[in-house]
Amino acid sequence: MRLLAISGSLRRTSYNRALLDAAAAECGPEIEFVFWNHLDSIPAYNEDVEIQPESVALLKDEITRADAVLFATPEYNASVPGSLKNALDWISRPFADNPLREKRAAVIGASQGAFGAAWAQAELRKILQTLGASVEQRELAVAHAQHAFAADGLLRDPEQRAVLTSIIETLRGQSRARRAA
Ligand code: FNR
Repeated sequence: MRLLAISGSLRRTSYNRALLDAAAAECGPEIEFVFWNHLDSIPAYNEDVEIQPESVALLKDEITRADAVLFATPEYNASVPGSLKNALDWISRPFADNPLREKRAAVIGASQGAFGAAWAQAELRKILQTLGASVEQRELAVAHAQHAFAADGLLRDPEQRAVLTSIIETLRGQSRARRAA
C-alpha cells in the first residue's frame, strides 16, 4: 500500500509531523509511507483562477497515486488550520473527479491542549466526506503532545499506539480488498 501522509502544520517542530513520523515507524515494509511536505507551496484559493497552480497539480497527482491518505491535523481556534482547508478547497475542484473521491482516508491529530485536536479532526473528517472520500471514523486525539512522544519518536501511550496501528491496518485492509475486487 502506498500511504500518503499529510500534516496540517507548517511548524518546523510540529507535533503533528511527529505523529506522522510515529505512524511511519509503526508501518512494516509492505507499506510505502510517503510524506507530502509542501503545504506552504499552495496559494490562496481563488475561483477566478482557471489554470490550477503547479503545486496543486503535484498534490493532486500524489493523492491519485496513493492507495490511502493519512492526515494529521493541528487544531486552530476549534477547527482545521486555514492552510490545510485551503489546499482541500483546491483539491475539490473540479468536484466530480477530485482525487479524494472514493479515496480511503483517515484523520489523526495532536495538540498541546487537553483534547488532542478532536474538534479539528471532526471538521476534517466532514470536509473529506464532502469531497467523497471514504473516511475512517475513528480518531486518534493526542493531547498534551509536548509529553506524548518517547525519545525514539514513538507514542508513549500503548493504547494510542494500538489505535494508530489499527487505523493504518484498516486502511491497508481496505485498499487490499479494493485491489482484489
Ligand atoms: C492553537 N492551538 C489550539 N489547540 C487546541 O487544542 N485547540 C485550539 O482551538 C487551538 N487554537 C489555536 C490557534 C492558533 C492560531 C494557534 C497558533 C494554536 C494550539 C495548537 O494546537 C498547538 O500549537 C499545536 O502544537 C499545533 O500543532 P503543531 O504545529 O505542533 O503540529
